This record gives sequence, structure tokens and C-alpha cells, in this order.
Amino acid sequence: MSVTASAPGKVILFGEHFVVHGNPAVVSSINLRARVTASRSQGERVSLEAESQDNPAVRSASYILESLGQKGGVSLRISSEIPQSVGLGSSAAIAVASAAAALKLCSDQLDLELILKAAHEGEKIIHYTPSGIDTSIATFGGAGIYTRSKGYRRLDFELKEILVVNTGRQRRTGDLVRRVKEFREKDPKRFEKLLEESRRIVEESVDHLKAHEIEPLGRLMTRNQELLRIIGVSSPEIEQAINACMKAGAYGAKLTGAGGGGCVIAVADYDKLDLVVEKLSRSFQVFKVKLGVKGARVESQAENP
Ligand code: PMV
Repeated sequence: MSVTASAPGKVILFGEHFVVHGNPAVVSSINLRARVTASRSQGERVSLEAESQDNPAVRSASYILESLGQKGGVSLRISSEIPQSVGLGSSAAIAVASAAAALKLCSDQLDLELILKAAHEGEKIIHYTPSGIDTSIATFGGAGIYTRSKGYRRLDFELKEILVVNTGRQRRTGDLVRRVKEFREKDPKRFEKLLEESRRIVEESVDHLKAHEIEPLGRLMTRNQELLRIIGVSSPEIEQAINACMKAGAYGAKLTGAGGGGCVIAVADYDKLDLVVEKLSRSFQVFKVKLGVKGARVESQAENP
């Protein structure tokens, strides 16, 4: 018996890093997915084909087995369309898909709250203090607002497509989250002001997202990027990608996720997106992504792997 489950990657539209410190952030799932096939195996542990064992996928599937009180072995096979370590929630999507596949394999159910818990445990391995935003959006899909205290609240907004530009520089989320914590400790008053400004940006963005006003959203992205620059998570590659987006006709652009490299997002009128992609793809890997897709789901089940 084997089960294949999938979960989407994500973009944070507004509010990354400040979300770790209690603020709201706007997040959306994207149409790039991670798929994990779980099958019964010899032994008593969860194992990953051709990879290290100290891994969010293994941890999150193990959490599922422990919570079901099951001992048998499970083997996981991963395939993902989401580029790794560039801010698109690749490890969370893998952790969620692993938990979903293991749960369906061992119990024939898909309890999303349990999957979320398991994936959060998995994320802790590579992340310093995960806010939970990545695992929430990968589990529930759609788009909405996330806060640490209230979790994920879905919003029906109209923005359908944006650009994701990969600077190609991989980085570790935990290192950048730590850098921001140090900034806060050194200058708590300034950080408070930045938290306030980030909250205002998030609030304004919700109105524009609902009203489908792309140009003001672009301006808010540029304002959000200034805050991220101040807390030290931008990088020369990010600034270069943002400049290229603006030159190519975007209304605004910012880093997405932890920064320090990784990806930049940009908005433009839908009928200009292809032209912007064409101009940017001379220097970067560029995706035109759809927002607000399905969360964790079972893709297929087979009696014999
Ligand atoms: O770069 P990613 O996909 O790991 O996103 C991190 C988002 C942060 O706000 C920087 C951290 C968090 O846990 O919310």
C-alpha cells in the first residue's frame, strides 16, 4: 500500500519577520507543489529514500506515527517543484505532504490540525523559531492573514497572479530570524516603530487586495521592502532583482520569506506580466505564479507501490 500526498509552496506578500514578533502577515499558497509518497517498509522507523534522516519530512511523519501509537516502518519518497531554501516554503510543504501521506497511509484519515502539528515539529529541526506561517498555509491552502496568536485566517482576495524572481542565492531562515532578533535587542524602540509600520502596511494591503488594486499594492511592497532593508535582511542580489523588476515595468517589488538572498516578488498589470517575465528571464529564474491554491491533499493511493 502506498499513498501520495501533496502540499503547496507559499509567498509572504507582506509582513515576514515581523510575524515572528507577533505581528500579522499576509500569505498565499502558490501553484508549485511538493509531493511525498509514503509506503510501508521493513523496520520500525520512518526513513527517507536517499537522504539524511535528520530531516523535517522524517520528523513530521514520525510525529504522525507516534500520535497514532503505531510502530511499523514507513518509507518516504519526495519530489518537489518548489525551489529549496529561497523563501517559497519548500521544507514546510514537504513536511506537510509527508505528514499527510503518513497519516492517510496509517489511518485512512486526513486530520488537518494533526498534520499541521506534525509539520510544525518537523520545521523546528531547521528553523530557529518558526512562526508557523509556512506550515499553516501549506496545510490549509488559499490565502489570508497569519498571526502567531490566532493562527491562519482565510481571506477572499482578488489578486490572482504575481511574479516570483529567484536570485539563486540560498540561505538559512534560522540565521536571518536570529539576525532580526539581535536587531530588536540592540534597538528595541526602533523595532517597535518598525512593527507599527509593518502592521499598517498589512492593514492597508488587505483593503487593496480585496478591491483588486494592483498599483497601490506595488507601492506597499516597496514600503515593506524598506523596513526589511532596515532590519538587515535584504542583500545585493535582492536589490538587483528588485531594480530589474521596476525597470521591466512592475508597480513594486520586495523580498519574500526570510531574505538574505532567496526570492523577490513583484506585481504588475496581468497583461504586462509576460513581458516583465521575458525581460527578467535573461538574468533570473522567473515564475509567474497563481495565488490561492488548494492546501494538503491526497493525490493517489495504490495497493502496490
Ligand atoms: O524563507 P521562509 O520560507 O523560511 O519564510 C520565513 C518567514 C519568516 O517570517 C522570516 C520566519 C517565520 O517563521 O515566519
